Amino acid sequence: MDFLRLQKPRDGGPGGPGGGGGPGDPNDPRRLRRNPLVWIAVIGAIILYTQYEGGGLPGSQDEAPRRIDQITDVGGPFELTDHNGRMVAPETFQGDYMLVYFGYTWCPDVCPVDVLVMGQAVKMLGKVGEQVQPLFVTVDPERDTVSSLAKFAANFHPRLLALTGSEAQVAAAAEAYKVYYGKGEEGESPDDYLVDHTDYIYLMGPDGTFLEVFPHGMRPAEIAHAIGQYL
Ligand code: NI
Repeated sequence: MDFLRLQKPRDGGPGGPGGGGGPGDPNDPRRLRRNPLVWIAVIGAIILYTQYEGGGLPGSQDEAPRRIDQITDVGGPFELTDHNGRMVAPETFQGDYMLVYFGYTWCPDVCPVDVLVMGQAVKMLGKVGEQVQPLFVTVDPERDTVSSLAKFAANFHPRLLALTGSEAQVAAAAEAYKVYYGKGEEGESPDDYLVDHTDYIYLMGPDGTFLEVFPHGMRPAEIAHAIGQYL
C-alpha cells in the first residue's frame, strides 16, 4: 500500500492560467480543455496510429514502460452501481477476467487515453476477449453520475461498464485496489476541479485474484498480448 501511495499521480498537474471568459463562458479555454469528449477523437487517432508496429514512435521499443512487478496484492470486495443503474460486486463478474481502471470522466488527459487503450486491447483480443470485462470506476462520484457515466462509457467499448457509488463505496473500492485519489487543482466554480489519482489498469482473474498491472503508457497491443497469455 505504501508503494502505491508514493506514486506521484500523473493527473492534476498545474493547468493553464484561467484567462479569458468566466467559468460559465463556453469559450473559456479551460472548460474546453477539460471536456473529455473534445479529446476522445484526437486521442483515438493517436492510439490507432501508434498501436501498429510500423507506426511506432522513434525509440519507443527501448522506452516501453515495464510492468510493475512489485504490485502483488490488489483487489477485494466492492459494491458499486454501473452506468445502467445495476448494483455490481466482484461476484457479478465471477468467471470472467476483469480489467479495472480508476479515473474520472472530467479528466483532461490521462483517463480518456487509458480507457481507450483498455478498450482497444479488449477489441484486439477478438473472440477470446469476450471473457474480459472492462470496468471504469470513478474516483469523482460527486460529478460522475450514472447518466454521465453512461454517456462516457459509450465512447470507449461496447461492453465497458462505468461504475460509481457513494463516497464511502468508492473509497472502499479504491482502498481494495490500493488506488490513491484526492481533489487537485480547483477552478473558479465549485464543480471545476481536477482529481489526482493512480492510473493503472489491473487485470483480475476469473476468481477475482490479481494477475497483472499495466501502467499508463503501454500500448493496446502490449496489453492484449499480456492478457492473451491467460486466456
Ligand atoms: Ni485521470
